Amino acid sequence: MQAQLEAIVSETESAVPAIRTRPEFDAFKARISGPHGSLTQAMKAVGKLPKEEKPAAGKLVNEAKRRIEAAFASALARIEDAELAAKLGDPVDATLPSPDDFAGSAHPLTQTREEICRVFHKLGFTVAEGPELESEWYCFDALNTPESHPARDMQDTLFLPAGTVAKDAPKKGDEAYIMRSHTSSVQIRAMLAGTPPIRIVAPGRCFRRDTVDATHSANFHQVEGLWVDKSVTLRDLKNVLDFFVREIFGSSVETRLRPSFFPFTEPSFEMDIRSPNLGRLSGRWLEIMGCGLVDPKVFENVGIDPEKWSGLAFGVGLERIAMLVHGIDDIRHFYANDLRFLRQFA
Ligand code: DAH
Repeated sequence: MQAQLEAIVSETESAVPAIRTRPEFDAFKARISGPHGSLTQAMKAVGKLPKEEKPAAGKLVNEAKRRIEAAFASALARIEDAELAAKLGDPVDATLPSPDDFAGSAHPLTQTREEICRVFHKLGFTVAEGPELESEWYCFDALNTPESHPARDMQDTLFLPAGTVAKDAPKKGDEAYIMRSHTSSVQIRAMLAGTPPIRIVAPGRCFRRDTVDATHSANFHQVEGLWVDKSVTLRDLKNVLDFFVREIFGSSVETRLRPSFFPFTEPSFEMDIRSPNLGRLSGRWLEIMGCGLVDPKVFENVGIDPEKWSGLAFGVGLERIAMLVHGIDDIRHFYANDLRFLRQFA
């Protein structure tokens, strides 16, 4: 009996490491411990031994069974690992460089926004934010834009259904919520949240009921600027904006301020630039932003004394700047997620 068991154990222990597949394993296992297997036969034989031999023989069988099961378990674990590896395919080293050499990069609008913020940071401006879902008071009333102003027309501004609740855009009274049509609302929030001197730029998304074409989008971006201090003058406005434009478009750019009108600035201007390095737009005067000195009415609306403080403000279209910088002729490229376009800015 002992010799027989040792033979079964050593057969198992020597055969099992060579088994590679599950069918092979199942067949071998049946030969040892299946209903007609050699180990099964030996166990049955123990039952037929005389009573006094049974304990010693039982012990031997159990020991043999333990070793055989251990051999089976390790073989099965190895086979399962191999099956899993086959299912997973070749191992991947995630630390190797991508076979496609495109690593991904910031969107051109993000790059332009960061560049603009970097330029104003050099002049001591910090970045401020305000809600995209805004109330009419912050977007229009506080900015001295009367009810009758065309900008408030339902044609231009996206109104939200009455009863809309916006936790992060508390409103003043019972006026309606809108999707902000410009970032100028952030001027108001910044002046209410802090005390002068204030020097902020506010990049953000804006919404208008525009028909989409090469130069219009219903969803676009602006960067707002506001500087409130003891004696901010037109000279500061010109200096700040000239600095900005030269940093973005290079030192050969010329600028001019053309009188204009905005309800929240007095006087108001459009800034135009002209540059020899703008491709097909070289040498032409191009309008790039609205600006002016903060209207005293706006200061009164936010509780800042216009006798003590003065300010400059500007609002620039992010898409406009990015299109000029990169020579892009259609605003829709920014939103199409076409990798052939995006990869050019990597
Ligand atoms: N909010 C204006 C617009 O969307 C742009 C603008 C003009 C912003 C003059 C200003 C400003 O801060 O002073 O067209």
